[in-house]
Amino acid sequence: MKKSDVVKLILKEKHYQAPLNSVGKSFAPTNIALCKYWGKRNQEINLPVTSSLSISLGDKGATAEIKLNSFQDEIKLNGSDVALDSSFSQRLINYLNLFRQPDQIFFSINIVSNIPIAAGLASSACGFASIILALNALFGWQLLDSELSILARLGSGSASRSIWQGFVEWHAGSLEDGMDSYAQSLSAKWPELCIGLLIFNNSEKSISSREAMQRTVATSPLYSAWPDKVAADMIKLKDAISTHDFKLLGETAESNAMTMHATMLSAWPAVCYYMPETIMAMQKIWKLRTQDLEIYFTQDAGPNLKLLFLKKDITSVLNEFNKLEIIRLFDV
Ligand code: PMV
Repeated sequence: MKKSDVVKLILKEKHYQAPLNSVGKSFAPTNIALCKYWGKRNQEINLPVTSSLSISLGDKGATAEIKLNSFQDEIKLNGSDVALDSSFSQRLINYLNLFRQPDQIFFSINIVSNIPIAAGLASSACGFASIILALNALFGWQLLDSELSILARLGSGSASRSIWQGFVEWHAGSLEDGMDSYAQSLSAKWPELCIGLLIFNNSEKSISSREAMQRTVATSPLYSAWPDKVAADMIKLKDAISTHDFKLLGETAESNAMTMHATMLSAWPAVCYYMPETIMAMQKIWKLRTQDLEIYFTQDAGPNLKLLFLKKDITSVLNEFNKLEIIRLFDV
């Protein structure tokens, strides 16, 4: 099954027409997984081995603005032109190709992002989600949320979760065409919960999450333990969210991230996203917990950490990590 077959299944007879001057504009938040998506059962259409669960980061994310263009594609990032032969543009163009008759229409697209690109902050998640939402608006498709989630997934797996704010579960699904592999909002709110971004390095990561994931599944002797770990963690996280049990949430999210990185460290060649600062911050967090500051972390495919804590501890957490950027999760 190809990506274009999935698009046909969803868009059916829907048109690709809009007046030349009309604009489709949409924002999508980035998201941080508390239970990670790590490993695909289908590389082509981004079907995951397991389900995953995330929290969206409020007003941190990307806005895509898309217009039709008569001559050629034009890609801008934060208002500046991006060369069409760059890897960034190529990935976007490959995705946009799914939504036009070949060579019939061109797009002008401007992505405005308020998070660093490719630093393990899920920039591709909000990028692809904002693009599909903007296309839906431009062409007036009126797709269902589950359909938007499936189409976002074709750009990047984690983008399937960036269609919503708040807590989001991406169901792994079991169908070969992936029509049951989409994300849904958990609708629970937890206004006390905070996430802080501890950024050590904003530069592009040395190995993409796509490649790291593939290598881990293919070579890590620990990967076979991952699906059972996820199944157990999904239950614990949903329980923690519905009862607002912060200790259970923090311990489960941190342990899930550590296990994901253990599968990468045992891949060959090993994949290691840690920087010395990452390890030092982890040790500091473990020590602070022994001193009764309730603080946990999670880490994605990059060296930066995302800290989890409660509003009541903001001052103490900022005293320890003064460069921390605190995200408003439920105020948007
Ligand atoms: O969606 P991708 O291909 O960028 O993969 C995301 C992988 C992690 O961020 C490490 C985990 C996750 O669930 O977001």
